[in-house]
Amino acid sequence: MALEIIPAVLVKTKEELLEHISRVRNYVKTIHIDIMDNKFVPNFTIGVKELQELPSGLKYEIHWMVQRPEEWVGKVKGPYLHMVHVEAVESWDNLAKAVKESGGRLGVALNPETSLEKINPYLKNVEKILVMSVHPGFYGQKYIPEVEAKIRELRRMLPKAEIEADGGINPETALRASEAGANGLAAASAIFAKPDVGKAVEELKNSLKRGWGERHG
Ligand code: DX5
Ligand code: ZN
Repeated sequence: MALEIIPAVLVKTKEELLEHISRVRNYVKTIHIDIMDNKFVPNFTIGVKELQELPSGLKYEIHWMVQRPEEWVGKVKGPYLHMVHVEAVESWDNLAKAVKESGGRLGVALNPETSLEKINPYLKNVEKILVMSVHPGFYGQKYIPEVEAKIRELRRMLPKAEIEADGGINPETALRASEAGANGLAAASAIFAKPDVGKAVEELKNSLKRGWGERHG
């Protein structure tokens, strides 16, 4: 199982997006891009326009914190992983069409208070499950330890799934989330607020490996 630290980029302009990507691109394989519509969450970011022609040589996952993501996904063409909130999808049929149209793949995200039963029907068709460890909307929030029970249960149900935790990840919480069963961790402030982003990624990776190792002996 691949253990991965994934920088999360929450920005309002294309310029900032490119700047964030260039800061971390030598240290990671995947970039997590946060997209907000000021409806599903009380904040907004770049949108569909700024997601066109992303720098090559990296993988991208798009975290859609928008209402009715099925109306957005099809507008972003490319081999991207579209992580949509189960709380926000209205038509799963339209979503499946949009993902196909985009040339990308599907993942699901769930809010801290959303139970696993909600994602049960979709688990077979998704490539990743994003478990929010903060209420989505802003970076720099405090990690909610109660979500670990959900990560644990999910890992028990799906030993081989890609499970990523997102929100409030730092070297201490990275240890806990990975010990619970997350093999991927998205982090914004614990990377971008540091002067040495390479070192920050390295520290998180060490925690991830340690937590995962404790879990798996
Ligand atoms: C929260 C976003 C997260 C956020 C993470 O709404 O989905 O990806 O950018 O930020 P940190 O790591 O600072 O909690
Ligand atoms: Zn995110």
